[in-house]
Amino acid sequence: MKKLFIKTFGCQMNVYDSARMADLLAPLGYAPVEAPEQADMVILNTCHIREKAAEKVYSDLGRLRLDKQARAAEGRNMILAVAGCVAQAEGAEILRRAPFVDLVVGPQTYHRLPEMVARASRAGGQQMDTDFPVEPKFDYLPRPGAAGATSAFLSVQEGCDKFCTFCVVPYTRGAEYSRPQADILADARTLMDEGVLEITLVGQNVNAYHGGDAGLGGLLRALADLGVPRLRYTTSHPVDMDEDLIAAHGDIPQLMPFLHLPVQSGSDRILEAMNRRHSRDDFRRVVERLRRVRPDLALSSDFIVGFPGESDADFQDTLDLVDELQLAQAYSFKYSPRPGTPAANLESQLPEEIKSARLAALQDRINAAQEAFNRSCLGLVMPVLLDRPGRHDGQVVGRSPYMQAVHVDAGAALLNRITDLKITAAHPNSLTGIPVSSVTKATA
Ligand code: 5AD
Ligand code: SF4
Repeated sequence: MKKLFIKTFGCQMNVYDSARMADLLAPLGYAPVEAPEQADMVILNTCHIREKAAEKVYSDLGRLRLDKQARAAEGRNMILAVAGCVAQAEGAEILRRAPFVDLVVGPQTYHRLPEMVARASRAGGQQMDTDFPVEPKFDYLPRPGAAGATSAFLSVQEGCDKFCTFCVVPYTRGAEYSRPQADILADARTLMDEGVLEITLVGQNVNAYHGGDAGLGGLLRALADLGVPRLRYTTSHPVDMDEDLIAAHGDIPQLMPFLHLPVQSGSDRILEAMNRRHSRDDFRRVVERLRRVRPDLALSSDFIVGFPGESDADFQDTLDLVDELQLAQAYSFKYSPRPGTPAANLESQLPEEIKSARLAALQDRINAAQEAFNRSCLGLVMPVLLDRPGRHDGQVVGRSPYMQAVHVDAGAALLNRITDLKITAAHPNSLTGIPVSSVTKATA
């Protein structure tokens, strides 16, 4: 067997793509390993969303060059590939700056990896494929394997036509594309046959899904009918939260009561400049409608601070919205100008100090909201899919229905099962639980 190491940066789409790359390379004799040393092939599956993410790739490449040289000194080869959105956005630049890189492959062409690898092993030389082919890569991917996991990602949609003015995704991932519903159901059946208990549908703009007659709501219903025990989806755009999808949160019991719905800013002026196509009140109304059908829905969001021209008052609107929404969690970022996006050319760029101060203030509010949400879960009983070992001996970890990490001590026998847990401690970033059966025993 040959050793394959894949390092994944960025979003769930990349996590999904990395798993599929491993599936694709398995027939060539590559088996995944946990570290780049001794690997016959290393893939960096990269993210271009913010400058920092893209920079990391070049520093990793510097280190990998030494690994590759060390192997060459032993007379062995290491194929080095850069995949993902940095590959798509600056492929030629990578080949120039890092001439020891063998392959550059974009997110829409990685189904061609096997032939690229074969060519690289045979003839050597650098190869790059960053097309946006007409035929979707999904037609060429093998059926997904669960690789022993009980929670799996399933890609249903890719790309984005929204063109938010700060975002590179429409350029790196290409136009919106939805997979046919029948293909998705077939993949879901395969995953369930392999023991998967939770499927998270992923897409850059997942609720723009239109591969069936009834959009994402219809797809979720079809998956629930198929018997998938737990369903989630990410990431959504507020404008695409249609009536049917909102209703789905009320009437599909398998759909977990958690939604990641990025709002980016609480200021109408900034939302407009971001080309988000919705106001702060539109967003509030969507949340209100969701909570009407699913009162315990836990809400998560994304925020950008320091977008060009953001005033103190605009930023205050964002803080106020965070307080009002009672978020269960949220991600927040300093605006990072991305080459080729409209906002990068605006003259009203803000200084780094303002961005940093605003980020710190926003994160304080978000952390407070998250802690309050976690505390509100104390004493509740919730079904948790414990899907991985924890850091301590015998400890297992899973996600609550509301997406919090939940730890159980001495729970090894509960691994890869859905178990009713009583929440006994709430921490800033996680919960501790004990199985309800042991609660009953202790008090009996
Ligand atoms: N700068 C900062 N954050 C960004 N995001 C996307 N583009 C940028 C950028 N240029 C954030 C958004 C998005 C999340 C995935 O990353 O909040 O929802
Ligand atoms: Fe980027 Fe906006 Fe598309 Fe999300 S909706 S991927 S932020 S362009």
